[in-house]
Order: sequence, then C-alpha cells, then structure tokens
Amino acid sequence: MMIMPKKDRRQIEFGDFQTPEVLAAQVVALLKQCGIKPASVVEPTCGLGAFIAAAMRGFDTARQVIGLEINPEYFAQTSTRLSQEPRRPLLDLRRADFFSFDWPSVIRGLPQPVLLLGNPPWVTSSGLGAIRGTNLPEKSNFQGHRGLDAVTGKGNFDIAEWMLIKLLEAASGTRASLAMLVKTSVARRVLAHAWRSRMPLKRAALYMIDAAEHFGVSASACLLLCSLAETPRTAECDLFNLDDPTVAIGTLGFRDGKLVADARAYDRVRHLIAENTDAELRWRSGVKHDCSTVMELSRLDQETFKNGRGEVLRLETDYLFPMMKGSDVARRRIAEGKRWMIVPQRSTSEDTSSMRERAPRTWEYLNRHGEALDKRGSSVYRNRPRFAVFGIGPYTFAPWKVAVCGLYKRLEFAVVGSYGKKPVVFDDTTYQLSFDSEAQARGVNDLLNSEPARDFFNALTFWDAKRPITIDVLARLDLRVLATECGQEWPLSEARLKMA
Ligand SMILES: C[S@@+](CC[C@H](N)C(=O)[O-])C[C@H]1O[C@@H](n2cnc3c(N)ncnc32)[C@H](O)[C@@H]1O
Repeated sequence: MMIMPKKDRRQIEFGDFQTPEVLAAQVVALLKQCGIKPASVVEPTCGLGAFIAAAMRGFDTARQVIGLEINPEYFAQTSTRLSQEPRRPLLDLRRADFFSFDWPSVIRGLPQPVLLLGNPPWVTSSGLGAIRGTNLPEKSNFQGHRGLDAVTGKGNFDIAEWMLIKLLEAASGTRASLAMLVKTSVARRVLAHAWRSRMPLKRAALYMIDAAEHFGVSASACLLLCSLAETPRTAECDLFNLDDPTVAIGTLGFRDGKLVADARAYDRVRHLIAENTDAELRWRSGVKHDCSTVMELSRLDQETFKNGRGEVLRLETDYLFPMMKGSDVARRRIAEGKRWMIVPQRSTSEDTSSMRERAPRTWEYLNRHGEALDKRGSSVYRNRPRFAVFGIGPYTFAPWKVAVCGLYKRLEFAVVGSYGKKPVVFDDTTYQLSFDSEAQARGVNDLLNSEPARDFFNALTFWDAKRPITIDVLARLDLRVLATECGQEWPLSEARLKMA
C-alpha cells in the first residue's frame, strides 16, 4: 500500500512523486541497452523534468521532445532548467492538462519511432474522491465504469492506468515504445488491457524498482516497458530487477483470457484449470459486516463479552458464533472460544426483527449501536433488513471448513472444525469451503496442500498484490482432476450437495 508522508492536498491530488535524476538516467541507459533509439520523446506529465533532461542527454537520435505538466510552478522551473541543457532538440514544453490533450494527433504527427517516457501520477480515483480532487478525465467510460462512478469509489482505478491506456491507444499504428514508472499492479492491469483488447504489443518487460528508496513509499513498483508493432507478437512479459537487468526473474503472461503470474508454470498446470464452476464445492468469502467494533467481541468469561469499544456485555448466545480472523487462519490458530462474532441472520435477506423476542439483550445492543451499523457505506447493505450482514448462507453454518486467508503472502489452508456445538465463522479476509464431515474437509485439504496444487496456485498468484489470494484463483483449480492426478479417491460423497 502507498504511504504518502508529508504530502499536501495538492501533491496528493496530482500524485506528485518527482523522479530522482539518478533513476531517470538509469532508465534511459537501460532503454539504450534495449536498442531504443527514439526520433521523438514525449513526457506526458513531466513535473520537474528529470526524464526530459535524461532523455536529452542520453538519446542523441531524438530530434523532438514534448513535455506536458499541469502544475504552473513545475512548468516554469522546468522551462528554465531545460533551457540550460547543452544539447537542444526541438523542445516543446506545455502547461496543459493530460486529460484535455489531443494525444492521437500529437503522437501521430511526431517523427517516429516515438518514446513515451515518464512517471505518471500516483493517485487512485477513490483517493481523489476522499479529498474531493478533480484531477480526472471528465466524461470517461473507463473499463466499463463511468467517470462519476469511479469518483464515488464504485469503480476505483489508478489515474496512471487510465493515462497509460490512453497513450497506448493514441500510439497504436505508430512505431512507439512506452517506458513508465508505475505501481506493479498498474503495469499488470495495463498489460492485461492491452492483451485483452489485442493491442499490437511487440515486446513487454517489467523492471522492478525499490520505491521506498527512490520515492519513500512502500509499494511494489516497476518500469513498464512495451513496444508497439503492426500485429500482436507477444503475450508474455519478462520480469527483471532494474539494478540487474540481464537476468530474468520471472515471466508473466496472458493465457485463456487472463493474466497469469508465471506463464511457463501455467502451461505446465493448465490441465488443472476448471472448465466450469463446481456447484458442489464452492469457495465463499467469510462474513462481511463492516463494523468490527460492534460485531466482533472477545469473551471474558462464560457469559461476559467485551466489544471493540471497550463495553462489557452480557448477551444471549443464540446469535453469537466463535470466529477466526484471517490472521488466525494463516497462523492456524484454531478457535479457542476467545473471539466471537454476532451473526444476526442465516441469509442476507432474513428478517432480523425476530431477534427482539429470541434474544432481547442482543437486540437492544444492536439497536444501541444502530447508527454505526446504519452508516455502513457498502451498497451490499442497501435495501436489506436492519443489521444485515453479507457473505452468509448454509455454508456459514456447516460444521467443517477448509479456510485460507486472502491477505497473506503464502498459501496456508487450514481445516477448521466447530467449537463446542457451534460452527466457526470467518471474517471477510478469509475464503472457505464447507463440509459435513471432518473426513471430507481433510481429504480436500490434502489435495489443496499437494505439490501440484501449490504449483498451480503459484502460476496464477501475484504475491505482491494487496490481496494475493482471490476467490477467482481458488475456484480455477479443478479439484476432481487433481484428485485423479494425485491418485486420491474423491473425498466428497454425493449426499453433501445441499451444502453448496
Ligand atoms: C509522479 S509525478 C512525476 C513527475 C515526472 N514525470 C517525473 O518523473 O519526475 C506526476 C506529475 O504529474 C503531474 N500531473 C498530475 N496530473 C496531471 C495532469 N492531469 N496533467 C498533466 N500533468 C499532471 C504532477 O503535477 C506531477 O508533476
């Protein structure tokens, strides 16, 4: 996640992280090693001009350089500074907004090959929403989200992602390369978009950089380098460290319509991809309630609980369930009856008012904190009974589960049984499969922890992502084919179909 120390509102809005000169020079040296000889260079958000200066010094082939910057002070400083550079190709600096610039006609009018070079803003649409920033494309329909939805957080996206896709689209049909410093997640999404929309990529590579050292932020970041051709020629992208750019450390790729973390490994485990969703065995998220200080309790003794606001409570046990957080699952800290969760429903649409009779103290407690629960912003609670939670169904109340935490950087599947007579529930950082019996859960857990399953998940998982393990990845493993491969009998009887 990005940390922005001591940035003012304006710097946040404009995603302002100026590139150190040494890094810009290192990038230009690498591009030269890769054989890039641009006739023109475009820096679309040039800031204090580190990349323009490095390009003017490094590329003696460049006849024309264009730089754009929205911030008037940066624009003025950069104009003065670049006028002192000894080598002067035709330099066109403009104080302008990326979003209202006619990129296709500018790029197509430049001498080719064109190099799109720089470090676009590090800010997301929801980050802008939080500070009421307006540095966004005005009437955009980006990746299916209308601009306004994006601002309200519905379709959160990185501004850099939007910019890079616009640049690649504008440059298609030309002999252009793009070399931009971005978060690795942005680079991957741009590549996925390019491959999905069959943009003509000739080559693609990611060079990992140390964002903490260069920008003082803790984020996985890289130089994305890709070149355009007439027809698509690659669906793979090698990974390197910028400091050691000759040794590939991996290859991500686009396979079967999706981005995969390790293209070669994916080709080896492709036979384990599930063709259809398994109706019998379905991965589910843990319970989502968005109000942990009210809904999650710690048990003090048999009858007394404490909530996250420090209140000591005596509640009926009808709606209380032992819970495990994702971190408990990852560390296999099996429920010991210390953490509990109030689960007011058996399904998201179930009326909650029967609680008034069945568990009056719990009802009174939830009403007392009704305002906090009513304020929950997520649309999943809209038009639902008061105090509704999400991610519940018969599977929540199954006696046996196999669980995995989505936030951890390693796969740790855990078999979880009930605590006393109560099924254990999970928070929404956890994914689970549900079972009637321990034997079923253990059988499936063995399969998930097998060598071929590990290879499979490693091929698909981007370990540097915020939530590396996703339902989508879990559900893509065909456990039945895996059971055959492992010579293991299918652990589920037909009788448990109802649990799905
Ligand atoms: C991450 S900084 C990088 C600056 C420069 N590219 C570099 O590498 O040092 C992003 C820059 O984008 C500029 N910027 C942000 N939004 C912009 C927009 N809509 N149009 C043009 N420039 C913009 C910011 O003012 C800032 O200078």
